[in-house]
Formats: sequence, structure tokens, C-alpha cells
Amino acid sequence: MNAERFGAVEAYIEGLFVDADPVLAETLRAAAEAGLPEIQISAGQGKLLYLLAKLCGARRILELGTLGGYSSIWLARALPVDGRLVTLEFSPKHAEVARANIEHAGLGEQVEIVVGAALDGLAQLEARGEQPFDMVFIDADKPNYSNYLAWSLRLTRPGSLIIADNVVRAGAVLDPEDDDSAAVAAQAFNAALAAEARVEAIVVQQVGPKGHDGMAIARVR
Ligand code: SAH
Ligand code: DHB
Ligand code: MG
Repeated sequence: MNAERFGAVEAYIEGLFVDADPVLAETLRAAAEAGLPEIQISAGQGKLLYLLAKLCGARRILELGTLGGYSSIWLARALPVDGRLVTLEFSPKHAEVARANIEHAGLGEQVEIVVGAALDGLAQLEARGEQPFDMVFIDADKPNYSNYLAWSLRLTRPGSLIIADNVVRAGAVLDPEDDDSAAVAAQAFNAALAAEARVEAIVVQQVGPKGHDGMAIARVR
């Protein structure tokens, strides 16, 4: 199997299981036009997150790393009408693009974007006494992933789901180069997750149009 074949199979899967979606297409177009990096999750990964949110009956979701709001829209669509997604984004520009995309998706009422470093946002959420989140999606700056795991455990409850993107990095996680901060962080995060007695977890490797990476999936005990 080569990369081209993996890409073709992913296109086949998305053709079967992901409906054409003008709102998400427009979200990607607006993000690209605003010059945002095209590093959002794939459509298939969006469908997976949506299904996982529904499977755990999520009413309150926390996301770290909004970018243009693509994954936020997938996640927020899985919420009940009175559900809520809080998404943390460092870049005011990314947050502005995401806000417009989320409004356009009709999800403005359910989604709150907290602008600033996620570590500050997380402390704010705790300080204002947020109810526990049912699901957390970690997808912000990779070097802080282990910190984000610790925070996720503070802000969830038994049975909550914690997902982290980009924990395989085309296999670089096996033996990261010192200057590959994302792979170094993924390796440390996966080790911390595996050693964390408060969760049961696995990493799922994924291949698709953007190559080989993976997500960690954990359930809080
Ligand atoms: N979840 C998005 C992609 C996120 S890309 C999607 O799939 O659609 C990672 C995002 O994390 C970028 O927008 C980046 O600006 C943001 N980010 C980087 N460092 C951050 C930090 N310290 N706190 C919060 N967000 C951060
Ligand atoms: C990249 C991909 C991501 O999913 C992400 O969250 C950050 C960076 C990348 O391919 O560089
Ligand atoms: Mg990612």
C-alpha cells in the first residue's frame, strides 16, 4: 500500500459516509482566503469526532485550537440544541475567521470562542466554575499537549471522552528528531496518557489525503 492508495481509499470512504456540505466547504474556502494554514482535520475525521460526540451523549464540549472553526462546526453539530462548545484559540485572526464561519453554520448560540493562550483560557474556565465537560478535543500547540491532558482531567468527569489529534506524525513519534517539536511532544503525550491511571486510552493511527497521523482516544475512569 502506498500513499496514493491510502488517499484513494479515504476519498472512497468520505464519498460514501460524508455528505457534500456547502457550509463546511464555505468554511474551508473562507479560511484559505484569509490565509489560515490548511491544517484542519479531514472530513472523515470530522465525521468521526461528530459520531464520538453523539456516542458519548456530549452536551458540553471543550476544544483546544479553533483555527477557522472547521472541527468546531463538526463537533457543535453533534450537540443537542441546548448544548455548548467552548473553543480556545490563541490567534485573534483565527478566532475572527472562525466566529464568522460558526455564525454562518447557524451555531453562534452554542459556540463560545475564548481568545488567548489555551493555558490561560483553561484557568479562566476553571475560575468561572464551568460544569464538567463531556468531551475534550485537544488540537492546539503540540508542546503543551501534556499540560492540556492535566487540564482536561481537571475539567471533565468520570465517563468523559478526551481526544487528541496529531499523536503519530507519520511515524516520527517512534523516534523523533530533536528539532521536531510536534513529534517530541506527541511521544511525551502518548507516554503520559498511557501512564495516566485516571484514564483508559488508545491511539488510532489514520491515513488519508494529508498523510499518516493519528488521534488518541481516552475515557476518564
Ligand atoms: N481544530 C482545528 C485545527 C487547529 S490548528 C480544526 O481541525 O479545524 C491549531 C490551532 O491552535 C491554530 O489555530 C493555532 O493558532 C492554535 N494555537 C496555537 N497555540 C495555541 C495556544 N497556546 N493556545 C490556543 N491555541 C493555540
Ligand atoms: C499540522 C496538522 C494538524 O492537524 C495540526 O493540528 C497542527 C499542525 C501540520 O500538519 O503541520
Ligand atoms: Mg490537528
